[in-house]
Amino acid sequence: MTLSSSALLNWYDRNRRSLPWRASPGDLADPYHVWISEIMLQQTTVRAVIPYYLRFLERFPTLSSLAGAPVDDVLVLWAGLGYYSRARNLHRCAQVLVENGGFPRDVEGLKALPGIGAYTAAAIAAIAFGIPVVPVDGNVERVTARVFAVEAPLPGARKILAERAATLNMGRAARNRPSDFAQALFDLGAGICTPRSPACVLCPWQDGCAGRKAGIQALLPYRAPK
Ligand code: ADE
Repeated sequence: MTLSSSALLNWYDRNRRSLPWRASPGDLADPYHVWISEIMLQQTTVRAVIPYYLRFLERFPTLSSLAGAPVDDVLVLWAGLGYYSRARNLHRCAQVLVENGGFPRDVEGLKALPGIGAYTAAAIAAIAFGIPVVPVDGNVERVTARVFAVEAPLPGARKILAERAATLNMGRAARNRPSDFAQALFDLGAGICTPRSPACVLCPWQDGCAGRKAGIQALLPYRAPK
């Protein structure tokens, strides 16, 4: 058994989390929604982000409403989330996007924007535009380290993990559904392949997981001592 993308997507179809920034199953999400949620999720949990996200979207329902608002209004809605440079970048980025006529539809164009790094660019590209890239956050790093039994420690292993993660979506099912595939990886990492006590018996990839085969899955990824 390999790491079948159709097995992961079938699992996702039955277990997907309904989150306010997500589109209906099978649809692409709105890039503005994905962008706001991904910036908020960078240092904050899903559960803590949801009420902030909902208030933010109520006050700034569109990209142009955000771009046209005073930055202080954005900072007020951000209060409590922390990392205020994120909110300042978000506001500046909204203005650049409005000047440019909307979101670029490719990873490189997205990465050139204020506050958007490799991870966020890949997340928007996959989830909103259906481009077959794998966004690699901490959850996806953990899943990748485990399924390939990557024993090199973080943070040095980051590059290797990104390379291996990029091979996860080679299957036909993943190519047909890049948006769902990226979100399925997030949900797998959050709900099954958890940092401690992963629920391997429920995992759609249990048979192909090299970490599990070696009995070290719950220990991965290793971390270099500080
Ligand atoms: N973590 C980061 N991005 C996410 C997303 N789009 N859905 C759920 N969890 C996430």
